[in-house]
Amino acid sequence: MKRFNRTGMTACALALGLGMACSGRRSEPLRGSLDISDPKVAHGQTVYMNRCDKCHPGGDAGLGPSLNNKPLPGFLIDFQVRHGLGAMPAITDEVVPKADLDDIVVYLKALRRNG
Ligand code: HEC
Repeated sequence: MKRFNRTGMTACALALGLGMACSGRRSEPLRGSLDISDPKVAHGQTVYMNRCDKCHPGGDAGLGPSLNNKPLPGFLIDFQVRHGLGAMPAITDEVVPKADLDDIVVYLKALRRNG
């Protein structure tokens, strides 16, 4: 449960500040059981597993830094994926289409709420 509320609310405030959708789910504890009833989360998870998980295992740090412990705005994730940085390669639209990348962002936000 550590940092659940704080991180979640910071992410939410950031999302709202940027004019993005922010669904504040605070009704039930999510830790340990990621809610994949949302098809975007489920699909995002699948794409993530194929394209990102080897370096950011389960959203944690691996070759790359962890992604589940900080409020990363969607546009920043998009930018990082498209342009790459350091040891992270740029991943093109042919490999991960925009719609898939959007779902990855939704998945990462769900992961963060969950952690
Ligand atoms: C080959 C390994 C590799 C793959 C595959 C990879 N990443 Fe990364 N990622 C990295 C590394 C290494 C960094 C750190 C880059 C740096 O700061 O020099 C990073 C950084 C990031 C960051 C910035 C994190 C921060 O703290 O600022 C985001 C966001 C990110 N990756 C998302 C993704 C997503 C989403 C995918 C899948 C579409 C992905 N990465 C696939 C290696 C990878």
